[in-house]
Amino acid sequence: MAAKTLNDLFVHALSDVYSAEKQLTKALPKLARAATNPELAAAFKTHLEETQGQIERIDQVVENTDIKLKRVKCVAMEGLVEEGQEQIEEIEQGPILDAALIAAAQKVEHYEIATYGTLAALAKKLGYTDAMNLLLETLKEEKATDEKLTLLAEQQVSEEEAGTPAVKQAGKRSVN
Ligand SMILES: [Fe+2]
Ligand SMILES: [Fe+2]
Repeated sequence: MAAKTLNDLFVHALSDVYSAEKQLTKALPKLARAATNPELAAAFKTHLEETQGQIERIDQVVENTDIKLKRVKCVAMEGLVEEGQEQIEEIEQGPILDAALIAAAQKVEHYEIATYGTLAALAKKLGYTDAMNLLLETLKEEKATDEKLTLLAEQQVSEEEAGTPAVKQAGKRSVN
């Protein structure tokens, strides 16, 4: 059903991100298992715990605002997760797959940053102050995760320049 009011829009967006977060609790362990760099695997595991907390925060938002979530599936997240899964199936484990996993995860984080930014703005407009603060807390976690992933990507690039054995091998493979 089409949203007619800002409140409808808020309910729809919140229901959508609830589905997105639920999908991520299933996808993040797979990303962690596929990662070679232990720091990257640890980052995925940490974010899994945060994601579980973010789902609880959505439950709190629902309680605070007295709204009812709708049963929807976030198809955007479904697509992003599917792309990550394809990389896992197609690329052998190592630094190249790690780079692909970082890219896939950053797309997810950027999607979430956009979503929670909108949700916090809508909550503010609707006068849902407690909900807004909860959503801003999650927004902060998504941004911090994105920054952590950027650092890991940069670290990987500088290791490649230094020519660590694992990366050297991967480099050789792509040249030959
Ligand atoms: Fe999240
Ligand atoms: Fe996230």
